[in-house]
Amino acid sequence: MTATSASLPRLLLVGGGGGLVGRAVLPELLPHFRIRSVHRHPALNEGPEVEWVRADVKAVDDWSPILRDVQVVLNLAWYRWESEAVFRSLGDGLRRLVDAAVRAPVQRFLQVSVPPAPPSMEASLPYLFYKRQVDSAVEKSGLSYRIVRPTMLFGPGDVLLGVMFRLMRRYPFFPMFGDGTYHVSPIAVTDLARALRQEAQASAVGTADLGGPERLTYRQLTDRIFGVLHKRPRYWRLSGRGALRLTRFMVAMGSTTLYPYEVEWLMSDMLGLPPYGGLDVPLQRVGPYLEQLAEGGPAR
Ligand SMILES: NC(=O)c1ccc[n+]([C@@H]2O[C@H](COP(=O)([O-])OP(=O)(O)OC[C@H]3O[C@@H](n4cnc5c(N)ncnc54)[C@H](OP(=O)(O)O)[C@@H]3O)[C@@H](O)[C@H]2O)c1
Repeated sequence: MTATSASLPRLLLVGGGGGLVGRAVLPELLPHFRIRSVHRHPALNEGPEVEWVRADVKAVDDWSPILRDVQVVLNLAWYRWESEAVFRSLGDGLRRLVDAAVRAPVQRFLQVSVPPAPPSMEASLPYLFYKRQVDSAVEKSGLSYRIVRPTMLFGPGDVLLGVMFRLMRRYPFFPMFGDGTYHVSPIAVTDLARALRQEAQASAVGTADLGGPERLTYRQLTDRIFGVLHKRPRYWRLSGRGALRLTRFMVAMGSTTLYPYEVEWLMSDMLGLPPYGGLDVPLQRVGPYLEQLAEGGPAR
């Protein structure tokens, strides 16, 4: 290593740094790493200090130029809803990235994944099936790796809590799937970002599941949102089957608000992960964030 390269911060490649997690993690990483970021569309959160490589992960056959001088890889890229063929193709592209990272070799590989789901979903839902193939390739790569699996995230521009909040503010009734006694433990996207920065600098290998500081029933969470809006909780009760029918209809109508698998996962009671204990600061609670939303920010 030359004196010049030794004095530079390490180069970290982010896959999918322009989304919800990327917006939180880049400011956390930038004081510690040089950043190269791969995704398809321009991202407002990336200034000139970030080297953007415009590429579709599905279409990258040869990762070696993108990995040149990279010491750490952090992959965030995935979709919430796509066809089986698109998930398969993105999964293939990411597994080519893992293979190239082994050949490079990089010092550390972080993969952001999702918590465990019911076995039937793990086996047949393309969203999960192909993601687990990528996770497994990372695990078997021989690299120093960490698979980080956060549960429901909250933060500016999130696609679940923020949407629930806006629906409750706008309408008198909110759909309640089943009895609402299944659990959630929302974690702040800024806490995930801190965890990822620490993991990028650490060497522990394995999988880490990340829950927030409070394990609430879904009904407690929705009651809390009504509470910060100073509205009496009023629910439109749906059975599990009714909720699946509703979300299938919404998808058919082109809605991106909620997908059937998200309802099934929520109702499976597998999302109330225990609090993540790896940070040196207390995990943020969801209540103050909801109050900020009620006061008009942070919206995006
Ligand atoms: N959001 C949650 O509540 C949550 C919870 C648990 C785990 N996660 C996981 O956390 C990770 C990040 O989630 P997020 O919420 O930040 O996702 P997001 O907001 O949808 O952002 C996804 C990012 O991936 C990029 N991307 C998608 N397809 C790509 C492709 N074919 N080629 C290159 N880049 C591509 C997107 O950029 P372009 O469109 O510009 O390509 C974007 O920068 C995902 O793996 C997700 O499964 C999220």
